[in-house]
Amino acid sequence: MASALLYRLLPLIFQITIFISPSCTQTEADGSISLGSSLTAQTGQTTAWFSPSGDFAFGFWPLETDGNYFLLAIWFDKIKNKTVVWYANGNQAVQAEATVELTTDGQLSLKDHDANEVWNVKPDSTVTYAAMLDSGNFVLASSDGSVRWQSFDNPSDTILPSQVLGSGKELRSRLMDTDYSSGRFELSIPSDGNLTFYPVDIVSGYKYDPYWSSGTSEKGSQLVFNESGTICLALPNNTVLINFTTGRIDSIGDFYQRGTLDPDGVFRQYIYPKNTTTSGGWTVVDFQPPDICRELTTATGSGACGFNSYCVSGGGNRSVDCECPPDYAFEDPSRKYKGCFPNFTARICGINESVTESMFELIEMINVDWPLSAYEHSSPIDVDQCKRKCLSDCNCDVAVYQDEGGNCWKKRLPLSNGKMGSYVDRKAFIKVPKVSKDSSEGGSRNKKRVIIIILPFLLGFLLLLCLGLLVRKKLRKQGILHGSQYDESRGKELDLPLFDISMIESATNVFSNDNKLGEGGFGPVYKGQLVDGQCIAVKRLSKDSVQGLDEFKNEVMLITKLQHRNLVRLLGCCIQQEERMLIYEYMPNKSLDTFIFDRTKGKLLNWQKRHDIIIGIARGLLYLHQDSRLRIIHRDLKAGNILLDKDMNPKISDFGTARIFRGDQNQENTRRVIGTYGYMSPEYAMGGIFSVKSDVFSFGVIVLEILSGKKNRTLYDAESSMTLLGHAWELWEEGRCLELLDEAMECPYPVSRVLRCVQVGLLCAQEGSKDRPTMAEVVLMLSNEGVALPQPKRPVFFSERTLTDRKWSSSEQNSCAVIESTATMFEGR
Ligand SMILES: *[C@@H]1O[C@H](CO)[C@@H](O)[C@H](O)[C@H]1NC(C)=O
Ligand SMILES: *[C@@H]1O[C@H](CO)[C@@H](O)[C@H](O)[C@H]1NC(C)=O
Ligand SMILES: *[C@@H]1O[C@H](CO)[C@@H](O)[C@H](O)[C@H]1NC(C)=O
Ligand SMILES: *[C@@H]1O[C@H](CO)[C@@H](O)[C@H](O)[C@H]1NC(C)=O
Ligand SMILES: *[C@@H]1O[C@H](CO)[C@@H](O)[C@H](O)[C@H]1NC(C)=O
Ligand SMILES: *[C@@H]1O[C@H](CO)[C@@H](O)[C@H](O)[C@H]1NC(C)=O
Ligand SMILES: *[C@@H]1O[C@H](CO)[C@@H](O)[C@H](O)[C@H]1NC(C)=O
Ligand SMILES: *[C@@H]1O[C@H](CO)[C@@H](O)[C@H](O)[C@H]1NC(C)=O
Ligand SMILES: *[C@@H]1O[C@H](CO)[C@@H](O)[C@H](O)[C@H]1NC(C)=O
Repeated sequence: MASALLYRLLPLIFQITIFISPSCTQTEADGSISLGSSLTAQTGQTTAWFSPSGDFAFGFWPLETDGNYFLLAIWFDKIKNKTVVWYANGNQAVQAEATVELTTDGQLSLKDHDANEVWNVKPDSTVTYAAMLDSGNFVLASSDGSVRWQSFDNPSDTILPSQVLGSGKELRSRLMDTDYSSGRFELSIPSDGNLTFYPVDIVSGYKYDPYWSSGTSEKGSQLVFNESGTICLALPNNTVLINFTTGRIDSIGDFYQRGTLDPDGVFRQYIYPKNTTTSGGWTVVDFQPPDICRELTTATGSGACGFNSYCVSGGGNRSVDCECPPDYAFEDPSRKYKGCFPNFTARICGINESVTESMFELIEMINVDWPLSAYEHSSPIDVDQCKRKCLSDCNCDVAVYQDEGGNCWKKRLPLSNGKMGSYVDRKAFIKVPKVSKDSSEGGSRNKKRVIIIILPFLLGFLLLLCLGLLVRKKLRKQGILHGSQYDESRGKELDLPLFDISMIESATNVFSNDNKLGEGGFGPVYKGQLVDGQCIAVKRLSKDSVQGLDEFKNEVMLITKLQHRNLVRLLGCCIQQEERMLIYEYMPNKSLDTFIFDRTKGKLLNWQKRHDIIIGIARGLLYLHQDSRLRIIHRDLKAGNILLDKDMNPKISDFGTARIFRGDQNQENTRRVIGTYGYMSPEYAMGGIFSVKSDVFSFGVIVLEILSGKKNRTLYDAESSMTLLGHAWELWEEGRCLELLDEAMECPYPVSRVLRCVQVGLLCAQEGSKDRPTMAEVVLMLSNEGVALPQPKRPVFFSERTLTDRKWSSSEQNSCAVIESTATMFEGR
């Protein structure tokens, strides 16, 4: 073994003695590492190259969460609490037997245990050695000592004394203290010199509006960490623009120092006493921004904490915490930033709401608000009226009240941007079930007495129950009661009201043809009216539709768990003998396609209605994708599956083909492609791959259909077989977007917002699924004019012929913007 190593090293030693100073052949003494050296990750052992002082190590860092996985990292090695300051493969930890090698041709290469390269550095000119320096900088250098690559130029989330974060560089926080994958925040110094902190969407990498910026505009500004212990934004000639360190630390040489963009989005400067006999770990000396809960504004998606939770920052260090409202639980208690969900059975609105609502009460929280998610605002009213309004409205999940001005907002889930702090001059009322409260309040003192009182009743009840069952059995024998025990338990398992078949038959006039609304994918749909006058839609699964049975169960399971204003509401189901039926709320205005593709009915939809419909669909879809407790891909989103209630609110329907994804699952492959041509994304139609992004594609098509009043499958030009998408793209490119709009839509409309919608539609329908925005981004883009939109790329199904005919011109792309600026006069309201 040793001789083999020597054999490998011999030529190197030879090489090095020729090209560089002899001192460099000493690997350990001065921290320099010769070409051909390598390290191998080993469980339970530290393999690393150390700096001469031993302060820093470069090598394999075993993950705190699972010691069998390693990062290629640099860490403070001398202190008790060893701390990682740089890592190469945060998103892709490697297992034991992984190696890092400084190759003989001067590259640094990390390979996993299967010898696949995970990460590498290829400096542009000859590297003759590497070194772990006492500053914490790992460098690759050439024989004249000039640095060819350094970790200081490629930081992760931390900067160290003497390190400079130059123009164009950035820090990206890690996800959790011990999860080094890319986190939710970024600090960068763009070339315009305005240092900014952004929230970043973990999945898409989308950058939201900054939550803090230095407001400086001197080009070439850089973040300098002076060894004397101050971090400042300075020009290359040492002119200080902003001094971030407010305090002075005496005898700074006695401390280790670092500045880290922490997982909570706060940049903190830390010190740690070098004298190990002194107690204490890393101490915060300064931090920026002052209060992240407050800084993260409405333009930043879910804010510092996930949906339905709220952000509290406290203590001298402004540590950030995410909390759940009462009776809500964390999606993932170990990852609190992911948000909360109601830990109680969802209400089903539409069925005797007065009864359901009487089972709920409001819990008050002061200095709390979720600035978004309001669907109704009243003012001025008093706090009791506000509470009553929310209690009596099934859709209301939270009421927020502001004493000044008597403002009352009714909000529904998902709640976003939640924050708590004395600066919030509002109180929130959270709607929770009464029952759960009562049972938790029943103190143990009363328990005994309760049992004594209850016991006789309980016995009586049991007796009655037995009697009931006996009677029931008899009746069943006589054929009076339909249904079997099996069906009943099934309904209970689904947690959904079961309708009796006779009730449905009388409601639909025994499924008469006059009551037939249409033919769905798996059977006919009938209109019906219950005895109490409520209108229903009954989807009757064809008996011979073997295939549909799974889809039926799927739909019931799914939709009972879902509740959103923009999803069609399931009132119950009916499972009896061969019959399987779903009972929905009735939508008097039928589906969206009956309006937008109809010349006369299309006139009923002005711009505002169309815009509201688009936003409504987007919200419903966002709920499916992200905000409900499940991640649901609809898979057959089309204008025909968007129903309209009497106020023309859109409701997504037909969940027969929907799929539930587990929390971390992002895409799935299927051999059975179900969907509708014209709405299917290319990767789904051709490869059977579906993800939330395939729904986003369908949404993009629907947006363009709503705006144009044309079906995507309509051909514009038979010769070139151009679809609506292709047509829209061509108009967009030529700056003639307004020509796309449905003539039935009345003028005037706010041109800039219309164009924004077209652009969002095109962004959603882009060919690459990664290029398409998430629904969260779509909602943001549609509801916030301040959010800058990226330029869309060419959509799919665009005829190749026209493509080659088309001229590329970047100046043309901006002509929409020209129209925008001349047309803003329409917008005043
Ligand atoms: C070690 O340092 C990490 C990172 O600063 C910190 O989260 C952890 O609490 C520290 N542990 C101890 C025992 O001080
Ligand atoms: C810096 O960026 C912020 C946020 O984008 C912006 O509001 C501010 O105007 C910028 N300042 C300068 C001087 O560019
Ligand atoms: C560090 O700060 C000291 C005084 O605070 C200053 O003299 C020195 O030039 C600074 N060094 C750098 C590299 O900015
Ligand atoms: C540093 O550079 C800036 C711009 O390049 C200039 O305005 C400033 O006067 C310089 N300061 C010093 C001390 O040279
Ligand atoms: C920054 O401010 C601190 C505290 O006032 C001071 O000690 C330090 O010298 C300043 N640094 C620079 C570079 O101005
Ligand atoms: C470390 O701190 C202890 C107690 O504060 C002190 O007695 C000791 O001299 C210090 N050691 C060094 C090397 O500074
Ligand atoms: C700030 O952090 C330091 C160490 O990280 C800790 O000792 C101190 O108690 C914290 N202060 C507050 C107010 O939380
Ligand atoms: C959620 O509710 C269940 C049943 O009521 C209870 O056992 C559980 O502790 C609750 N979870 C949280 C996090 O409150
Ligand atoms: C709803 O419940 C109330 C109270 O139990 C009852 O009076 C009313 O008749 C019910 N309405 C319907 C339509 O069932």
